[in-house]
Amino acid sequence: MGLEKKTLSDLELRGGERVLVRVDFNVPLEGGRVADDARIRAALPTVEWLRERGARIVLCSHLGRPKGRDPETSLAPVSERLSDLLGTHVHQAPDVVGPEVRRGAARLEAGEVLLLENTRWEPGETRNDPELARELAALGQVFVNDAFGAAHRAHASTVGVTEYLPAAAGPLLEREVTTLRGIIESPARPLVVVLGGAKVSDKIGLIDHFLGRADAILIGGAMCFSFFRAQGKPTGESLVEEEGVELASRALERVQAAGGAGCRLILPLDLVLADSFKADAEPRPIDGTDVPDGWMGLDIGPRTSDAFAREIEAGETVLWNGPMGAFELEPFASGTRAVAEAVAAAPGVTVVGGGDSAAALGEFGLEDRVTHLSTGGGASLELLEGRELPGVEALDDA
Ligand code: 3PG
Repeated sequence: MGLEKKTLSDLELRGGERVLVRVDFNVPLEGGRVADDARIRAALPTVEWLRERGARIVLCSHLGRPKGRDPETSLAPVSERLSDLLGTHVHQAPDVVGPEVRRGAARLEAGEVLLLENTRWEPGETRNDPELARELAALGQVFVNDAFGAAHRAHASTVGVTEYLPAAAGPLLEREVTTLRGIIESPARPLVVVLGGAKVSDKIGLIDHFLGRADAILIGGAMCFSFFRAQGKPTGESLVEEEGVELASRALERVQAAGGAGCRLILPLDLVLADSFKADAEPRPIDGTDVPDGWMGLDIGPRTSDAFAREIEAGETVLWNGPMGAFELEPFASGTRAVAEAVAAAPGVTVVGGGDSAAALGEFGLEDRVTHLSTGGGASLELLEGRELPGVEALDDA
């Protein structure tokens, strides 16, 4: 169940080594500033650990999905924010690779930090081009991958570079992988999985995987309407992912075929409706889940919140991914708040993944009340679906 890969301590750093660290600084920017620095803060202990050991630190990351050298996706705002958080100046490289970057890396003093430009400015990054990987590798003497959020990508800075340098897992990546693998390999029971968000297609891999493993799967968010449509119920103007209806129907058949012996799949019992997707829309609670024409479901109802909270609080392991409703609109935040509070109150291991659930926890001030808040979106979903992550596989075996 462990990581079975080399970690930072296996590198036996003596001080003075140049360490190339892949981090996931793919953070939202607004007006040229970092709008949410959670991923930067999550990498701080690793950077600080290396600084304390006198390493010369070269950090690299992607940001967004630019096509080429797009200044809007420069990492400069990130190096500013990182400088503030570390309390020391972080040098911003003008490029990803090239002579100037090599000179910058060579000039680093012990404990200094250089942040490269957006790795995706280089077309070779997503192609996992060996030439780019070799150039990146030349900037360090050892490689540390701490970019859990990008570990599902087989790119030059996550996988290619490991061909050329001793490659170890950083502490953040290590903690993410061991915690999430623990949930699928040896969870304390009952294992309760709470899923929300708009699309069944995003979560069907998780539903399939956990139908064979969890004790209960609770479904909220707009994705419940794909299930209701599959059951032939009226969904009014609710957001229904058409592709999800077929997927939902297969999941329901699987539960039925298990005849109550397997995992329970629990759908909402009641809803809160509105006639438009607006913060000032009048919330209309209904008992039951038939949505009339002209109305849309924007939250789970109070009976569902209570039922979900009871399931969650009885869980020894709880995994939560995806909001229960349009929690960004205050009148429709109750279901997500109830789930967040129940997860925070649950006595066992609680793991939250996905940017929206993390944002909801933050909004309700409950971030510190869960066992593990994952920094990975796609990476955490793939790992929880039981898939190997190329960025982890490529690291040196322990
Ligand atoms: C993420 O935000 O999930 C990661 O940084 C990966 O980003 P990507 O989906 O653009 O590869």
